[in-house]
Amino acid sequence: ESTLGAAAAQSGRYFGTAIASGRLNDSVYTTIANREFNSVTAENEMKIDATEPQQGQFNFTAGDRVYNWAVQNGKQVRGHTLAWHAQQPEWMRNLSGGALRQAMINHINGVMAHYRGKIVQWDVVNEAFDDGSSGARRDSNLQRTGNDWIEVAFRTARTADPAAKLCYNDYNIENWTWAKTQAVYNMVRDFKQRGVPIDCVGFQSHFNSGSPYNSNFRTTLQSFAALGVDVAITELDIQGASATTYANVTNDCLAVSRCLGITVWGVRDTDSWRAEQTPLLFDGNGNKKAAYTSVLNAL
Ligand code: XIL
Repeated sequence: ESTLGAAAAQSGRYFGTAIASGRLNDSVYTTIANREFNSVTAENEMKIDATEPQQGQFNFTAGDRVYNWAVQNGKQVRGHTLAWHAQQPEWMRNLSGGALRQAMINHINGVMAHYRGKIVQWDVVNEAFDDGSSGARRDSNLQRTGNDWIEVAFRTARTADPAAKLCYNDYNIENWTWAKTQAVYNMVRDFKQRGVPIDCVGFQSHFNSGSPYNSNFRTTLQSFAALGVDVAITELDIQGASATTYANVTNDCLAVSRCLGITVWGVRDTDSWRAEQTPLLFDGNGNKKAAYTSVLNAL
């Protein structure tokens, strides 16, 4: 096959990218994005601060711009993200306790109602665990509403859009030996045992010198899948864009039947949130890098 999306489709998977609405008038960007990818995640436009800038007043202008571009070009959409400690609007940052809990529920209901039936996977909860060796939850205003906030989010989401796959999404959970990975694994196992609705786990996969790719990533993906959830690589970028590492990640997904697909976190290096790491598959001029060919050959 000659594009990433078509190559991934040969095994029933997708190959996606993050799309920034502000770049949709850049024809070099849209040409590559439209040609190569068959799944889209809004880089920022479906986050809490974008979709509910004032409490109870939803705004889907930017989210719909990304959604409509994707669907008009035949792509599926991953929703990102409904409950998160970061990119909260000012009003939400100032809430706590029962008022925050109810605001989270209202937010999930409002956003999922707008996109009901249109989103293949939703990142319901993002980055709820702490880094480091404790395996603890991350401290946040949401966490301080009670340890059950994550399952409340998932139960709310299931009712709001029963057709969407509901994902937990995080970074630094790719290495099987890390405490954070085990903590998320234990949560998912507990959810499955107790019937809390969860369908998938997203591994952001922002690999860099501080959290490098490790070949035990495949064990991680297999172990989560064995719990009865799908897995997905949701925000892939690799500092320096080693062609070998990109191929390894691709092969890890392909080795796991429940790995739904791979999303890279941007199109060109210059579009990346970590542009200085040149972590993506296309250079700033839109040329294919060695990592691109390596992924395409692996798919
Ligand atoms: C990043 C975006 O790429 C940036 O544009 C924004 O300024 C900050 O957020 N984990 C996530 C993503 O789940 O939403 C983050 O995206 C990157 C880390």
